[in-house]
Amino acid sequence: LTIGVFDSGVGGLVMARAFRAALPAHDFLYLGDSLHVPYGPRSAETVYRLTLRAVDYLCRQDCELIVIACNTASASALRLIQQEYLPQNYPDRRVLGVIVPTIEAVAAGHYKRVGLLGTAFTVGSGVYAEELQKIDPQLKLHARAAPLLVPLAEYGALHHAQPVLEEYLAPLLEADIDSLILGCTHYPLFRPLIEKILPAGVRVISQDEAVPPKLTGYLKRHAALDARLKKNGKFRALLTDVTPSYHATGARLFGADVAFEKVAL
Ligand code: DGL
Repeated sequence: LTIGVFDSGVGGLVMARAFRAALPAHDFLYLGDSLHVPYGPRSAETVYRLTLRAVDYLCRQDCELIVIACNTASASALRLIQQEYLPQNYPDRRVLGVIVPTIEAVAAGHYKRVGLLGTAFTVGSGVYAEELQKIDPQLKLHARAAPLLVPLAEYGALHHAQPVLEEYLAPLLEADIDSLILGCTHYPLFRPLIEKILPAGVRVISQDEAVPPKLTGYLKRHAALDARLKKNGKFRALLTDVTPSYHATGARLFGADVAFEKVAL
């Protein structure tokens, strides 16, 4: 049995790389729905349907534990998958998201004026506002949808992002944020540019740093599950469409060409 990592696109590669660094012995199976990316501008019904299909596919590939490494998919589908879909279809499988681990990182930092960049869906869902209220009702969230970032990341056009980021971040800087959640798994790719724009004291909360220790902790607490997971250090990367920009991004992230396999879900 393997750990599955699902994302709408290249963000999952960023996360898979971070998970492999934290758990180098474990096997990982990444699935990117490159045929349907971006999820961010789509309707709740469509994001849910696409996410369910991907999770179902990974369950059929013998993934006992699946990380939905996509905020948009987590916001739309995680609760229903955990509470209804798995108990009815795969009661022995586990699915985790990325939003709660991120909230825990904010709680640990005791931040008060938190900025959030996310997809239109994630910001519109209000899930971050809702979860942050639970940890600290005094905390102020300044959320901004950043719809152009995912297409720029998917096309490997990071060098065009500077003016776009400046525009998205301007209202957050005006609100004098003390921290910024990169609320989309694609955004760590923009981190160097974002850090150049942010004033020195603003802390960046990035999911490629916040989530892997939580996954490690989860496996420690679930030792029987962990004992069933394959540990040959293998990494397979599946895409619903293989395009040149994935080869370029894969090579940049992993330092070698990634042998992407095209699959139909
Ligand atoms: N990477 C995904 C997330 O974390 C969404 C990207 C997309 O719009 O497909 O929200």
